[in-house]
Amino acid sequence: MHIVRRRGWEIPEHMVTPEAVMTNRRGLLGGSLALAFAGTAYAEEAGPPRNPAFEAGRALTAEKDATTYNNFYEFSDDKDLWREAQALKLRPWSIRLDGMVKQPRSIDIDDLLKQVAPEERIYRHRCVEAWAMTVPWTGFPLSKLLAIAEPLASAKFVVFETQVDKKTMPGLSAPWYPWPYVEALTMAEAANDLAFISTGLYGKPLPPQNGAPLRLTVPWKYGFKSAKSLVKISFTETRPKTFWEAIQPAEYGFWANVNPAVSHPRWSQASERLLGSNERVPTQIYNGYGAFVAGLYDNLKSEKLFM
Ligand code: MTE
Repeated sequence: MHIVRRRGWEIPEHMVTPEAVMTNRRGLLGGSLALAFAGTAYAEEAGPPRNPAFEAGRALTAEKDATTYNNFYEFSDDKDLWREAQALKLRPWSIRLDGMVKQPRSIDIDDLLKQVAPEERIYRHRCVEAWAMTVPWTGFPLSKLLAIAEPLASAKFVVFETQVDKKTMPGLSAPWYPWPYVEALTMAEAANDLAFISTGLYGKPLPPQNGAPLRLTVPWKYGFKSAKSLVKISFTETRPKTFWEAIQPAEYGFWANVNPAVSHPRWSQASERLLGSNERVPTQIYNGYGAFVAGLYDNLKSEKLFM
């Protein structure tokens, strides 16, 4: 397959949308978005209980920045796709539970949400493009969804497939991308405490541009693993080819664990730019979540774990 190189993380960080342009765009948003939350102000908002096990160790990113600077290629490869994303139709919405499960079936999102208790977690998010944010997600552990799906003991991978709706997603007309967007985890990764399904952000329903109504959130991996707007979760014995791996296997792999010491072939991963302040801070291995996840990889040293 011939792939035309496009923007996004296929270019170095310094070529990503210039900040002056972003700032100007934000200026144009006027009063249409809520004022940014400061970390402490946000803590006073009512919402589902915050899980204290996940300390972000950084100030929260302003809501405005997290919701107006996004990657969602089904809509556009521009970072300010949030306007287009408002067309995403969020109901009815069902999730197919398929493959190596006790009984393949579809579950309506509202039925699913009745079966899980919402909680809030503040997580750092590190994009492979070397920008980062810290945001409060609402949602539930992925392990709860695994329990509902009832995978067979022989299943080895969980595959996440996301929405394809040509009527509302103009980016799908780009034929060089292997739609649908597919991501996957090993069963052990998916069962890890950190693996989360997000349904909200900043105490509000998840905005379409951040992956409504249901999005995977795996904060120890580069952001492209966190697939948005999930429609299918299937279980397999063999490792699937994931979306970015299919496009550029030398640059984007299956594991994609964050590591400052392993450069992307075209840029360094040693530091990251915080959305909002644009401050550069050192990147941490596993995005700082090694205590939760490093043990998952003890027997996988021969794999390319960090790309
Ligand atoms: N999911 C889908 N379906 N399509 C995408 O293009 N982009 C990924 C990930 N999930 C993407 C996706 C990338 S590269 C990143 S960094 C995060 O979403 C961005 O999430 P955010 O916009 O909420 O910050």
